[in-house]
Amino acid sequence: MKTEIKRGAVIGSGAMGHGITQLLAMAGYEVKMIDVNEEILSKAKEKIKWSLSKFAEKRRIRQEDADAAFSRINTTTNYEEATKDIDLAIEATPENMEIKKKVFSTLDSLAPPHTILASNTSTLSITEMGNATKRPDKVAGMHFFNPPQMMALIEVIKGEATSQETIDTLVELAKKLGKIPIVVKKDVRGFIVNRILGIVFNEAFWAYSRGEATKEGIDASAKYTGGFPMGWFELADFIGLDIATEVGRILYRTYGERFKLCTEIVEPLIKARKFGNKTGNGFYDWTKGRPRIPFNLLEEYDVDRSWAVAVNEAAWLIHDGAANPKDIDTGMKLGTFWPSGPCEYGDKTGLDIIMNKLKELHDKYSMEMYKPCPLLEDYVAKGWIGKKAERGFYQ
Ligand SMILES: NC(=O)c1ccc[n+]([C@@H]2O[C@H](COP(=O)([O-])OP(=O)(O)OC[C@H]3O[C@@H](n4cnc5c(N)ncnc54)[C@H](O)[C@@H]3O)[C@@H](O)[C@H]2O)c1
Repeated sequence: MKTEIKRGAVIGSGAMGHGITQLLAMAGYEVKMIDVNEEILSKAKEKIKWSLSKFAEKRRIRQEDADAAFSRINTTTNYEEATKDIDLAIEATPENMEIKKKVFSTLDSLAPPHTILASNTSTLSITEMGNATKRPDKVAGMHFFNPPQMMALIEVIKGEATSQETIDTLVELAKKLGKIPIVVKKDVRGFIVNRILGIVFNEAFWAYSRGEATKEGIDASAKYTGGFPMGWFELADFIGLDIATEVGRILYRTYGERFKLCTEIVEPLIKARKFGNKTGNGFYDWTKGRPRIPFNLLEEYDVDRSWAVAVNEAAWLIHDGAANPKDIDTGMKLGTFWPSGPCEYGDKTGLDIIMNKLKELHDKYSMEMYKPCPLLEDYVAKGWIGKKAERGFYQ
């Protein structure tokens, strides 16, 4: 049976937590927002107030609904008071397993037994957080995208012990929040979107470090030839090189050589605390706004390489039983505004052509990143090469 959600708590009121709180309140839920001190909470509340006024100003909601949403939000530093009568908690504390485990164990000891505990982690193990509680069946991932008020996608992640009821409840909740949920059926690192982005970043970073193209050339090719909304270096800067590198490290630790990090180009920036947009500098200078990516370099890098590794990683996700083609495609289109999902792109281009590209790159560089996934090899061997054969990732 699905849990009926009426009241929720959001733990952590930072960049993500305050946005998630606002979303819940706009959808009619009573929300308690928890953080470590009153000052942080009052800043978060100000941000919500400002955002709600923008929604009303742009006539996306009526002023009285914005006021009603705001009145449904209460803030506190007291976990006990905040969690005693909730049906759902969404944790949005810093991306650190020790902090998260502590938060989950506290929530478990205070919240009613039926309460679902969800984490907004970008990549950490849901199973591990669940194991910090006595209700791992009620612990799941609910990964919002930044800013949560605006982005349509939510990845709902199943930990090893998460029940189907918990997943169904969160999928339904995501829809009630006006979002499009995709389900990550296994607790894989990077889930769907960050995992595919991770491999595409690595490919671009290695190409740059080998001197095959400039970062401007790679970004121009990704944007103007590939139709991606941002170049890969620009996007890494935008996400934050500290965050992107941490996700990259976790992917490397989990999946080994396939995710070999190009440390020589990222580490010096991390050491100099040049994290990208938020610090003013990263691969690019952001102090005067978004970097200008020169149009004339649009052929410097072969953007089919980005697609080849993305399609291959999508095949790995399917091979591992973590996701289906439709959810992967939805994730990349809604989570990062790709012009096409990797599975539909692979089917349209021909999986045989994608595999040849991977083999060509593998022969040239001997890197695991380019080794075709067994599922892709199997499809091609069976003649399931995509649209032209009427069977590929899709039928
Ligand atoms: N920022 C993004 O783009 C983004 C996108 C998707 C997911 N995430 C994930 O969301 C989570 C939060 O990220 P963020 O960017 O909002 O971080 P943030 O640093 O902006 O906010 C974290 C908040 O948690 C509070 N906090 C710390 N310890 C706490 C505790 N024990 N109890 C209550 N509050 C506590 C901090 O005071 C802070 O206000 C992370 O797991 C991150 O990976 C971030």
